Amino acid sequence: MSSTMKAVVNETYGAPEVLQVQEVPVPLSGAGEVRVRVHAASINPVDVKVRSGKSLAAQYGARPVILGYDVSGVVDALGEGVGEFRVGDEVYGMIRFPEEGKAYAEYATAPAGHLARKPKRLSHAEAAAVPLAALTAWQALFEGGNLQSGQRALIHAAAGGVGHFAVQLAHWMGAEVLGTASPTKAGFVRALGADEVVDYTAGPFEERVAPVDFVLDTLGGEHQARSLRVLKPGGIVVTLLALAADPKQAEEAGRRLKRVVVYPSAEQLSEIAELIDAGKLTPHVSATFPLAEAAEAHRLVESGRVQGKVVLEVGG
Ligand SMILES: NC(=O)c1ccc[n+]([C@@H]2O[C@H](COP(=O)([O-])OP(=O)(O)OC[C@H]3O[C@@H](n4cnc5c(N)ncnc54)[C@H](OP(=O)(O)O)[C@@H]3O)[C@@H](O)[C@H]2O)c1
Repeated sequence: MSSTMKAVVNETYGAPEVLQVQEVPVPLSGAGEVRVRVHAASINPVDVKVRSGKSLAAQYGARPVILGYDVSGVVDALGEGVGEFRVGDEVYGMIRFPEEGKAYAEYATAPAGHLARKPKRLSHAEAAAVPLAALTAWQALFEGGNLQSGQRALIHAAAGGVGHFAVQLAHWMGAEVLGTASPTKAGFVRALGADEVVDYTAGPFEERVAPVDFVLDTLGGEHQARSLRVLKPGGIVVTLLALAADPKQAEEAGRRLKRVVVYPSAEQLSEIAELIDAGKLTPHVSATFPLAEAAEAHRLVESGRVQGKVVLEVGG
């Protein structure tokens, strides 16, 4: 095996063009870590924010860095003390979030607790689309919002990376699901299990939605205050973005506003894989790119119009 590999290296902050494929040393797995031969890595909006210098600068420190959190691949080496995996296992996971993940590469290392067995019915490209977005949806719905069967849930950007998992998971939980989307994506959102699609381009959603128990805010800013207005008493807005409305004021009005930040969980990834293999949850990959076209893939994600997920196919 060669001691070097191809990776997408980010030498500076900036536009997508700063992403360059370079030959770098293959990483070694430390104690408690697994090395994965990466077959696919998916792109999340946070990668775009890191690349352009808008997010996680403190966690990343000095450039150059290798972006990316989501991988699917095959275990290739084990560090000391790893008992749960063997060389040759197919795994997927969200690596090291919110520190430098280094997933846009031919090999990546990860703490064993950040990985789980890959869903059997998925290709690596499909499996790589899952971890960060599905874990976020899971934690926002079931931990942040404690969503229950029979409740009404409104999912913003229901066609997006997080949204398309959130619609399916809320439907699986037995909630009545509403999703905001533009008209061209309404059919897609209905097929995910939404009972009602709210066309956000036809006017303010808050004037056309009957009260709900739960809102997933994937958009931030003014969407938080507007979403608080559609809550039933006792309802909750779970946001993935910085707080822009006041949780205290919401509480005074008998509503709640809470921010959720995703964290790695092998246990939840295993439950998600079971749901996927049972046919109850399906990732949607709208575009794949080779590693060398990472900049093009970033441009697409940066458009904010992606349906489902965008994936880098690394080889294997
Ligand atoms: N806190 C955390 O841990 C965490 C975790 C994951 C993600 N996030 C953040 O959450 C946000 C969403 O992530 P994502 O991966 O789901 O993004 P994404 O996949 O890029 O979202 C794209 C989708 O947003 C829809 N959209 C855009 N504007 C909309 C609007 N005004 N109303 C309804 N839908 C709209 C688009 O559909 P149309 O073309 O129909 O508009 C598109 O399908 C990002 O800012 C991300 O950084 C935070």
